[in-house]
Amino acid sequence: MAVYSPEQLEKLITSQPRVNLISRPTPLYPLKNLTVELGLKEISIKRDDLTGLALGGNKSRKLEFILADAIGQGADTIITWGSLQSNWCLQTAAAARRCGLRPVLVLFKTYDLPLINQGNVLLEKLLGAEIHLRETEKQGKSPDQGQAFRLLEEVAEYERRKGHQPYLVSVGGSACGGHMKKPLGAMAYLLSLLEIYRQTASSSPPDYLVVASGSGGTQAGLLVGARALGLKTKIIGICVSDKKEEFLPVVQSIALDLVEFLGLDLTLEDSDIILFDDYLGAGYGQVTPEVSAVIRLLLQKEALVLDPVYTSKAMIGLIDLARKKYFQPDDKVLFLHTGGVPALFAFPDRLLAESG
Ligand SMILES: Cc1ncc(COP(=O)(O)O)c(C=O)c1O
Repeated sequence: MAVYSPEQLEKLITSQPRVNLISRPTPLYPLKNLTVELGLKEISIKRDDLTGLALGGNKSRKLEFILADAIGQGADTIITWGSLQSNWCLQTAAAARRCGLRPVLVLFKTYDLPLINQGNVLLEKLLGAEIHLRETEKQGKSPDQGQAFRLLEEVAEYERRKGHQPYLVSVGGSACGGHMKKPLGAMAYLLSLLEIYRQTASSSPPDYLVVASGSGGTQAGLLVGARALGLKTKIIGICVSDKKEEFLPVVQSIALDLVEFLGLDLTLEDSDIILFDDYLGAGYGQVTPEVSAVIRLLLQKEALVLDPVYTSKAMIGLIDLARKKYFQPDDKVLFLHTGGVPALFAFPDRLLAESG
């Protein structure tokens, strides 16, 4: 098993086609009030909610490679899917517009939302994305990849009849599928790990990096990056929709695809993939009193806006793990803010219901 230098890894990745969509590096700084509150050496934050594409988020990094791939394949239309308030879908629509492609979105109503034209959907409509609303087969559950791609194919056929050349990509830009044959989303997060490495080089890399894990590509890329650099940093994924047993093989397979695609001499153990599914709450996208409380806590302590579906759950996890002494007092913990803030505005009643 080899250890690679940041330059070696960067060279492998930057030789891949990429369009420039974000401002980098995104900020990384300590959360001083939260650090005191939790009694750790240092809790810092990496602000990938400030990537600068539309209202930012982790998906903009992935889309730099995915859009380049789509353009390389001669596409003029991007088709993807997500849940109703999908951050991925907003970022895809924004990236497509920046690159002069047409965004077509299939949005699944995975949960009941009284306000449809809010948050991400509002921005998608203003972006002029074509939106197909669909019910899910199982109430409250996202469709599986096979079911979603069957639907996407129907939409693609319609687009082709209109003379368009569609590029189909799976939710989150994580797992290979459709026209994305390479693990481009995870690769973007390997590159992001190098950015974090350089930003923390003057002190020492974090002992733990905590991130919300939904379709798995972000965690997989960070993990491969940390292992390839030979860092001791543990990447902790907080599950937002699936139980750990179902989700671990997903992250593992994306990570292995990335190792293979880049030709890295690296083995990954099951134990490298650290996932906690204790913070799923009432399920994907359900805004519970705990979600509302952590959003208020971070706003009031750090003036930091979390989203109600991903980063709030990841922060609930970080705080609980600190209180349970999973982290040691001299550990440095880095929280990755992956964006999603526009969805906040789709849940005002539930967020305010608990404020008393
Ligand atoms: C705000 C936000 N954070 C985290 C994630 C999880 O990233 P990934 O899908 O790469 O696991 C998502 C994915 O949808 C997201 O929208």
